[in-house]
Amino acid sequence: MNVRSAEDRDRAAIAALHTLSWQQTYRKELPDELLDGRLRGIMDARWQDQPISDRDVVLVAETDDGEIVGFASTWVADDGYIDNLHVSSGWQSQGVGRALLRETARRLLDQGVSPAWLHVITSNHRARSLYLDLGGEAGLVENKNLYGTMVPNQQIIWTDVATLFDRLGAPTPPLAEIRGIQE
Ligand SMILES: CC(C)(COP(=O)(O)OP(=O)(O)OC[C@H]1O[C@@H](n2cnc3c(N)ncnc32)[C@H](O)[C@@H]1OP(=O)(O)O)[C@@H](O)C(=O)NCCC(=O)NCCS
Repeated sequence: MNVRSAEDRDRAAIAALHTLSWQQTYRKELPDELLDGRLRGIMDARWQDQPISDRDVVLVAETDDGEIVGFASTWVADDGYIDNLHVSSGWQSQGVGRALLRETARRLLDQGVSPAWLHVITSNHRARSLYLDLGGEAGLVENKNLYGTMVPNQQIIWTDVATLFDRLGAPTPPLAEIRGIQE
């Protein structure tokens, strides 16, 4: 397993993983008409056209066979907005999401970017508790328009990105097997 910067050739695989992850994770929040209909085209277009600057942090987790099984995208301005974090269902709970977050935090620290924040759908208890375990502070709950459906989202904020990095710690087995993470 390798965590690396996304390249243009990864855009289609990211769109496919993004679509599948929404279908599996947000079935109760979003209509079938979106998830099983329009979503794939929306994600394909979104990722095909998404501008990615040198400062943005877009990472993929790739197996030794070259399959992309996770990605994280963070848009950098004065702060870092962690817009997406998704791991294929067959690869969850094995440290891939943490490895993606750790490398994201490391690159934000390198650039001196802080704070970092994200939105999590309030019913996504697993992701929300992961972020709180990692030192994120729960902020405002606000409705976000997800392609026509208003869904309550909570802000999670790391005022100092170093907290996120420190909480993720040094890679330990099985994380040590995830290569491409530089100290
Ligand atoms: C949320 C998500 C990104 C987390 O990624 P992941 O690869 O499953 O998570 P990790 O294995 O890196 O870490 C979290 C879990 O592993 C455990 N874990 C794994 N390695 C660990 C380690 N070295 N030390 C401590 N805990 C570890 C954590 O306790 C936690 O347990 P859980 O799986 O029972 O919840 C992923 O589950 C996912 O894609 N979910 C669907 C989409 C989604 O909700 N995205 C977030 C949108 S805001």
